[in-house]
Amino acid sequence: MLVVLKQNAKEVGQEAARIVAGAVRSNPSIVLGLATGSTPLGMYEGLVSLHKNSGLDFSKATSFNLDEYLGLAPENPQSFHYFMHSNFFSQVNFSSERVHIPSGALRSNYSEYCERYENEIRKAGGIDLQVLGIGRNGHIGFNEPNSSLASRTRLKELTQETIEDNRRFFPQGEEIPECAITMGIGTILDARRILILATGKSKADAVAKAIEGPISSSVSASALQLHPDVIFILDEDAASTLTQRDYYRRVLELTKKYTPEKLA
Ligand code: GLP
Repeated sequence: MLVVLKQNAKEVGQEAARIVAGAVRSNPSIVLGLATGSTPLGMYEGLVSLHKNSGLDFSKATSFNLDEYLGLAPENPQSFHYFMHSNFFSQVNFSSERVHIPSGALRSNYSEYCERYENEIRKAGGIDLQVLGIGRNGHIGFNEPNSSLASRTRLKELTQETIEDNRRFFPQGEEIPECAITMGIGTILDARRILILATGKSKADAVAKAIEGPISSSVSASALQLHPDVIFILDEDAASTLTQRDYYRRVLELTKKYTPEKLA
């Protein structure tokens, strides 16, 4: 695991965009796992600008999004479909038939649908690079505390904390979905490489538990300790309660010197 410490949210976004862009350039047919939320917005901005100004080409890439609220149609501005299209896909040259986002419009047969989503990922050759944010309770995707560390794509019930955290995105009075379709922790751990971004004080506790705490289903992100190729990109606030910050900085310098390909 590598921990990259940045000063602020802007730098986190730029560093994530740099790494994703490098991966796309070295493998134009890359399969990306993508995340929503406010944290990766700077990364999408960076990727859009690299596409527009430096010709970063997504035409052969494939993507799978982590999750979607159950009950929201794709044209609902609060849906993750809408988020992805407005913040990313409509601004780059991704081919729409290679974009996959779990459907929020399902009314039945959830497990068959989720199995098909898993099959699509497998058919595409698996996810090469998965981007993640983290919830205040340590969730990744919508894998709320106590999700099985071996879980696969499925319908998941949201905690009250997550529902409250997401209230800011919904107009007043509008009902917030109580469930989501999300890739499982097992699905996420199958990705060849994982980038997880966190910014702000409200994430510090979850980040510290994920990186330095024991592996536990009560903090889904701690399962990333089981993965051999994970990079955490954090701003100062999100990293503020880590106890080994100096060591992480030193590891980063040594990585740049001896194994720079890990950060390319
Ligand atoms: C939602 C998403 C997660 C995201 C999290 C944090 O719950 N399902 O994928 O990481 O929110 O969001 P934000 O980046 O807005 O703090």
